[in-house]
Amino acid sequence: MDIRLAEVKDQFLREAAAVRNSDELASLRDRYLGRKSGLLAAEKKRVGGLAPGDRAEFGRQVNELNAEVEAELARLAAAFHAQQETEALKRETIDISLPGTRPARGHLHPITLVRHRLEDIFVSMGYSIEDGPEVETAYYNFDALNIPPGHPARDAADTFYLSETLALRSQTSTVQIHAMQRRKPPLRIVAPGRVFRRDTPDPTHNPMFFQLEGLNVDRGITMSDLKGTVQQFIELMFGPQLKTRFRPSYFPFTEPSAEFDFSCFVCGGPGCRICKGTGWIELGGSGMVHPNVLEAVGIDPEEFTGFAFGFGIDRMAALMYEIDDIRLLFENDVRFLDQFT
Ligand code: DAH
Repeated sequence: MDIRLAEVKDQFLREAAAVRNSDELASLRDRYLGRKSGLLAAEKKRVGGLAPGDRAEFGRQVNELNAEVEAELARLAAAFHAQQETEALKRETIDISLPGTRPARGHLHPITLVRHRLEDIFVSMGYSIEDGPEVETAYYNFDALNIPPGHPARDAADTFYLSETLALRSQTSTVQIHAMQRRKPPLRIVAPGRVFRRDTPDPTHNPMFFQLEGLNVDRGITMSDLKGTVQQFIELMFGPQLKTRFRPSYFPFTEPSAEFDFSCFVCGGPGCRICKGTGWIELGGSGMVHPNVLEAVGIDPEEFTGFAFGFGIDRMAALMYEIDDIRLLFENDVRFLDQFT
């Protein structure tokens, strides 16, 4: 074999053995088989300088070397391809027996759960659900509810005023007025909703909370209708063994007024941690709708009477779920909320 060709072949085989990837392989191919500047092209040019008798043999040897280089390059290309394929398969393999990751499912907030239950109970008792605005004029928040100018409940220290005339409602009692303006008695509504007061947050207070208001206006409605309704509601909510009691109180929009309690649904009477040892749980305010309130919405108090009541939904949720800090209900920490699915 031509001695130069033998050197080129040796050099090629050494370089081919050192190739590590397909990029290096491509440059090896260029270096040896490149049409213009490839090493084999350079060798082929030598043929013109040979004696005519040696040319055919030299040509055969160059062609043979060319074929060997091609074959080795093809072998390496196939090897790299196979290696890439194996690596890709390894990389892309999935274990179909691994347990999947479940998407997190949302659920209702505990206050919403309790509100739904309350709504179901009152709907079953013939009440309809009423909604009202959270931003109110002084007329709905105070005047129509028989809370006169100068009354302490109107104080800016208790109410979030948005302007001279607008405030965030401080009680759902405002919806009584909207409902009576919208419809004629007989009227039976409950209005659950958000209310706002300038209270300093503590375990039993939050500046935003939820109330449920009830109103029943018809001919001949009396205090005993109020007592029967509250009693039935408590039985449906907490069980038939529970009792209710009414204590005289004062609210501007009712006369007479009473606060109502129910016997403790945990201990049933003797006293426990939930009822603070008294056997009773204070729930809300109530009373007979004040004639001034009926008159404010054009209902004749001589013809119609009504009762109303209101209580805190969050307070009820806190009792039912034994949550000892009401603020937890408004922080929306999912680690807390996830307990109430
Ligand atoms: N609005 C009162 C409050 O927020 C609760 C209340 C008392 C509602 C008596 C009533 C009622 O409907 O008759 O404290």
